Amino acid sequence: MELSGKTVLLGLTGGIACYKAAEFARAMIREGAVVHVAMTENSQQFITPLTMQALTGNPVFTSSWDSRQPNNMPHIDLPRKVDVIAVAPCTANFIAKLANGICDDLLSTLCQARPVTTPLLVAPAMNVEMWEKPVTQRNICQLQQDGIGIMGPASGFQACGEVGKGRMLEPAELVEEVIAALQPKTMAGRHFLITAGPTFEPIDPVRGITNHSSGKMGYAIARAAWLAGAEVTLVSGPTALPTPYGVKRIDVMSARDMLEAVTGNLEGIDVFISVAAVADWRVKHVSTQKIKKVAGQAVPDLVFVENPDILATVAKMPDAPYCVGFAAESENLREYAEAKRRKKGVPLLVGNIGHETFGKDDNTLILFDDNGALELPHDSKQNLARRLIDQLASRL
Ligand code: CTP
Repeated sequence: MELSGKTVLLGLTGGIACYKAAEFARAMIREGAVVHVAMTENSQQFITPLTMQALTGNPVFTSSWDSRQPNNMPHIDLPRKVDVIAVAPCTANFIAKLANGICDDLLSTLCQARPVTTPLLVAPAMNVEMWEKPVTQRNICQLQQDGIGIMGPASGFQACGEVGKGRMLEPAELVEEVIAALQPKTMAGRHFLITAGPTFEPIDPVRGITNHSSGKMGYAIARAAWLAGAEVTLVSGPTALPTPYGVKRIDVMSARDMLEAVTGNLEGIDVFISVAAVADWRVKHVSTQKIKKVAGQAVPDLVFVENPDILATVAKMPDAPYCVGFAAESENLREYAEAKRRKKGVPLLVGNIGHETFGKDDNTLILFDDNGALELPHDSKQNLARRLIDQLASRL
């Protein structure tokens, strides 16, 4: 529950994407948030205050004059009792009002009256032509300069039938933006390159050699780095995981593909985290046709050759980024991990207890560096990833 103890003020303005605001509110509540809702008059053409009240369990505010507030000042009281304000959907008109300080209804007034420390996020939602108009783009630039967070918009098929940029982000993506807005930006301005998942070494067009890595740890680290403000590129072997929001993902199959993707994306990288379970060997001669099983003939005699070591290759480059390795061992973790750290020439190596972690949602990590070993006790991979990012922030 990543929004436990947090209170969110959700503002709705008049766009068809109001139907997604209901799910957005629920998704924040599932993460532990308390959600209050303020709606403009136009938004009530698309969804009723009753729906939002039933979903959030809190009375909805629609007017600047509300006698339910003892002082009748909801524009002052509401923004003071929340940790963040998110306007979703946010129309071109509402963006224009925010950019110019126009306060002519409750939502625009409470945004203006919010304490400077309360983050304001807006999720633009409009027709592609409205989004692309210079006036909207000027207003968006103004909001950015004023420190207002812009969530999206996405591109795609629009309710009006046109295709292009202006779709509101999906509820799950908006939740990620809210979680990120409430987190210290310890990695702002940093660029991370992370490998994750297994590699797949082909034998023939239908067969290959791989391992049990699910990619969960690497994906969790990519997400945690993005939440902390980093720009993140994830080079991933074959996994069934969705791409973490905000992260650029490059899919690869073999160790050699992964090496190429890593070396081709190293420019400007500050931190390289090699979480992937890279196959140590590949088949020397990959058959171009499926190897047939012929009765009476011997089984194929596969010859293996060593794969390049991606982490060691990056670590010994001139101007190498800060490199972090992972080690999955089935025994003697401390001894093997420390030896591996020295062999690969990396300042930090993270050990985990081998096969016990594969595919699981939780883990125990031990960090090895020049100062010795530091255990991050058993926890979810998501929490451990955040703790690892905190540790990196203190080391960089
Ligand atoms: N690694 C890599 N390229 C390889 C093998 C490993 O980049 N060809 C990286 C992994 O991503 C991990 C670290 O090296 O960060 C250690 O991986 P591991 O497989 O445990 O180490 P190996 O050097 O392969 O040693 P061994 O398999 O003998 O334990």
